[in-house]
This record gives sequence, structure tokens and C-alpha cells, in this order.
Amino acid sequence: MELCSISGLKGNVSVPGDKSISHRCIMFGSIARGITEIHNFLEGEDCLATIRCFRALGIQIDQEGSLVTVHGRGLHGLTAPSQVLDVGNSGTTTRLISGILTGQPFDSKISGDESLNSRPMKRIIDPLTQMGANISSILRNGCAPLYITPGHLHGIHYTSPVASAQVKSCLLLAGLYAEGETSVTEPCLSRNHTELMLREFGADIRSSHALDGTEATASIRPCRELFGQKISVPGDISSAAYFIAAGLIVPDSEILIENVGINPTRSGLLKVCEDMGGDISLVNERTEGGEKIADILVRTSSLHGTTVGGDIIPSLIDEIPVIAVMAAVAQGTTVIKDAAELKVKETDRIETVTDNLKAMGCDVTPTDDGMVIKGGAPLKGASIHTLLDHRIAMAFSIAALVAEGKTKILDSKCIDVSYPGFYDTFEHLL
Ligand code: S3P
Repeated sequence: MELCSISGLKGNVSVPGDKSISHRCIMFGSIARGITEIHNFLEGEDCLATIRCFRALGIQIDQEGSLVTVHGRGLHGLTAPSQVLDVGNSGTTTRLISGILTGQPFDSKISGDESLNSRPMKRIIDPLTQMGANISSILRNGCAPLYITPGHLHGIHYTSPVASAQVKSCLLLAGLYAEGETSVTEPCLSRNHTELMLREFGADIRSSHALDGTEATASIRPCRELFGQKISVPGDISSAAYFIAAGLIVPDSEILIENVGINPTRSGLLKVCEDMGGDISLVNERTEGGEKIADILVRTSSLHGTTVGGDIIPSLIDEIPVIAVMAAVAQGTTVIKDAAELKVKETDRIETVTDNLKAMGCDVTPTDDGMVIKGGAPLKGASIHTLLDHRIAMAFSIAALVAEGKTKILDSKCIDVSYPGFYDTFEHLL
């Protein structure tokens, strides 16, 4: 995809359904009894991989665009897959489905693409093993492909070294099949969609977190059944992030992004935009299915640098590439720290972000847990090496809108992982 600078993005847009929530609807619906009806499901490659896996586990899932019906067969209704479960590029599918599969009376294998098969899985293998699960890395390198055979699960209390919703959710799902209580304490609260949604499905789940934001614990006890639900998936704030950034940095813009999930465990970006001097406001705030939703209004602003670090990081981890782009445009220095998790995303995002910002002429220095960006110098068009990372492709598409000359986003098709139709949304704003 080739892009060049523009001005005057104006209008209303809505972004596709939330990726984290879409995955969970399919998974929880599959192990619940009865029908789960999902509206505004994200038809991105990652969530389609989750559908593919649960169909391979014997679940009937009907999909008509963003309307999906899951014919759940109850907690013990999955059947043995006849082939390796293909999770594609999706870390969420891999880690959450592993928790469910360790509780099943049959063998399974999970594998994905090259990026997925190089991401760390020891973070789930170790605690699941402590719970009595039989799960191993087939190549003994701590990564997928994974092999799971039946085990006898018992609850544990696990203190996770990282605030990871995927690790937490994996263990809570295994906990549905374990004897006694399973609880997970994390250093600060990661996204809590699993806790909110499992409760709606009827699970016996509790969560608590310290008022100062440090330490959060979620615990679950096995229940007899979960029950199918009707769910309307809010727009994904991680996808809205690109239009928020575009609205703030493209001259003469005013964009209203409608129906965006603003769960506080996901919306750290809003605070960072405010800290950078962005003109951003929430309109029409409401709550549906336990999730907060709002329309987000942004107008062109002159941004200044800030520091992004500490407990806010898990609530904006996927938005850091586009925050870095805003920081490159902002006056002054932005420090991003405490974000070493960036190294184990679809790519090493400390490297992919800093390499591509440098290619555009930005003064940026990678650090062990983030980066330091000296913003304000004009960006120049460049060839962006996405390394097939959807968030790098989208973040640098926004940088291209304010860069001098042409920017080429290589392998931009990878955007389909989380946002098919990303470039079409811009058409509404021209
Ligand atoms: C996700 C959790 C986060 C996030 C990912 C989706 C989820 O990963 O980066 O895109 O849906 O649970 P970690 O749990 O590894 O932080």
C-alpha cells in the first residue's frame, strides 16, 4: 500500500468489534450449554482462527458476516480434533484454548505461523503443569507447537511475574476443569474481559485489585455448567486508536469514532492522549454486558511529549506502536518504559517501531523496556517493513498521513489479522 500526506479528515466512523472479546465469545460459547448469539463479531484472521479451532473440536458455529451463532455443547461437550489445531498468528487463541484443552479427556496439538511458533509459551506451560496438566512444547523450545494429553487438574494459587490477560485467562479456563479453587495474582490488572464475560456465562469467578493499582487477583471455582448468552461486541479501542491518532495529528481534522469499548483495563491510550495535550472527549457513555462503551471525539491538536510507564502499560500495550507515531510528531521528548512485553508480541515491537521510525527520519533510541523518542522533526516517507505485524502496518499508515513524500507499507495485507477493511474506513473521512 502506498500512502501520502493529507489534511482535513472529517466525519463519523465505527471500527470493527473488539478482538479480545470476539475470541472469548466463541470460546466461552463453545463450552456453554445452548446458543450464544454474537453481534458485531470481528471477522479478522485471528478470530476466524478461533472459530476454525472450535469447529475442529466438534462445535457447530454459523457465521453470516459479523453475526455468529455458537451451538454450545456444555463444559464436557468438546470432541477430539482429527488434525493439528491451526491457530494462525493468534497468541490469544493459543494461550486461552490451551487452558481449555488441558481439561479435556483427549489429546490435541496446537500450531501456528512462524511468528506465533516463536512466541513464549513457557509462561502458560509452567503454571498449567503445576495444576497437573500434561502440556509440552513439541520442539522443547518453550514455544508452540504444543502437545496436550489428559491430566488431572487441581486448583493452585499462581503469582504471575507478568500482567498478562492471556496467562490469567488460560489458568482461569483450566480452573473450570480443576478440583478446588484456582487463583491468579498479577503485578497489576491486565484486561479483565474474561472475568466480566465468564461471570455473565454463569461461572463462579471473583476478582479484586488493590486501590493503588498494584496487584490484582482473579479466582474461579468449577461450576456445573456455563450458559449461552447474547452478546453485542463493542468496537475495538485498539482499532479505534489509529483514527484517534489520525484525528489528533492530521491537520484540520475532526473525527467521531462511534461505539468503542472503553473498559478501564484497555483505555490507557485516552489518558496518554490527554497527557500529550490532545483534544479528545467521550460522548454518549454507557455500559453493556458489563463493558463500558462510548463515542470518542478527537480534533487536531498540537501534541507534546510525555512519559508512558508503570501500571498503565497493560492497558495500552497494543497501542504503543501508534503512541510512538504520535510521539514522533509531538514537540519534545516521549519516554516509553516498563514495556518489555513489547518484545514478545507478533514482532519485537521495540525493534520494529524504532527501526521504522528511524527510516522516517525520527530521532528514536530503543531501550530494554521501551524507547525514547525526540519528536517534532518532520517525518519523511519511507518503505515500512511490517514483518507481517498488523499493528506496525496500521501505526505507520498513520505516520504516512503526515510524512513528506510517499510511504510504502510492505505486506499491508497482514492488517486483516485484526482489521479487514482498515483502509476503507478512511474513505469515510476524506
Ligand atoms: C490479549 C492480551 C494481551 C494483548 C493481546 C490480546 C487478550 O496480551 O497484547 O493483543 O485478548 O487477552 P498479553 O496477555 O500477552 O499481555
